[in-house]
Amino acid sequence: MSVFSQKICLKNRIDVAKFASNVITDQLSVDENSVLGLATGSTPEQTYRELVKKHISGQNSWSQVRTVNLDEYYGLDRNNPQSYHHYMHVHLFNHVDIPECNTLIPDGTTSDPVAEARDYEQKIVALGGIDLWLIGIGSNGHIAFNEPGSSRDSRTRLVRLSNKTISDNSRLFEKKADVPTQALTAGIATILEAKKILLIATGKNKSAAINAALNNPIGPDCPASFLRLHPNCMFVVDEAAARGCRNNFR
Ligand code: F6R
Repeated sequence: MSVFSQKICLKNRIDVAKFASNVITDQLSVDENSVLGLATGSTPEQTYRELVKKHISGQNSWSQVRTVNLDEYYGLDRNNPQSYHHYMHVHLFNHVDIPECNTLIPDGTTSDPVAEARDYEQKIVALGGIDLWLIGIGSNGHIAFNEPGSSRDSRTRLVRLSNKTISDNSRLFEKKADVPTQALTAGIATILEAKKILLIATGKNKSAAINAALNNPIGPDCPASFLRLHPNCMFVVDEAAARGCRNNFR
């Protein structure tokens, strides 16, 4: 097992964010041209805050970094406040020295999602692949928007969101009916091709998914379980998310 492939439980979400921001900052100091995979959602918000603090104090530079996001809601314009384009600018891109042209997020307004998905995969290959992908986990075990049922070989594509994900994410919308029902997402195979993966999870609503990811049979019932096939995947969770599988963590 590589040193990177550890399972780490920390006290709370702040400690998880500080740890994750250190891992990412280390990656940027080893290679300022890194290709970073990024996630959205509530979990990484604090990690982005920590990364911005480090940037302001001169500990990381993003001028040469290229970023690739996991996913985007289908049907949302990049200026829509609920879009992941908007999220990334608000939480990270507007506060660090990354050139806009070095960032990649699926186009949720494309009229040709099949072509968009194919181009996305080709763009990742053209970048030389992802060095480190920061990812979260859904309460149903999804990674990116690979919902239960997604296969190991899945690639970037248009998917239908599960009812569970729609109701989980409705907290961020005015009403449930406003949550998009589809998304463009990197596939499981796309994610597993990253050189390193850093999964972060906080809060008790993630504990069942973390337990399933680490202890259930590897398979589509819990898409995050496929991460166990990766030789350099680190799970960093807080105590609440580790509840029920404390033995898996040091
Ligand atoms: C977001 C993404 C999703 C989230 C997951 C958890 O880009 O790909 O898989 O990581 O839904 O979301 P939060 O962190 O809001 O609980």
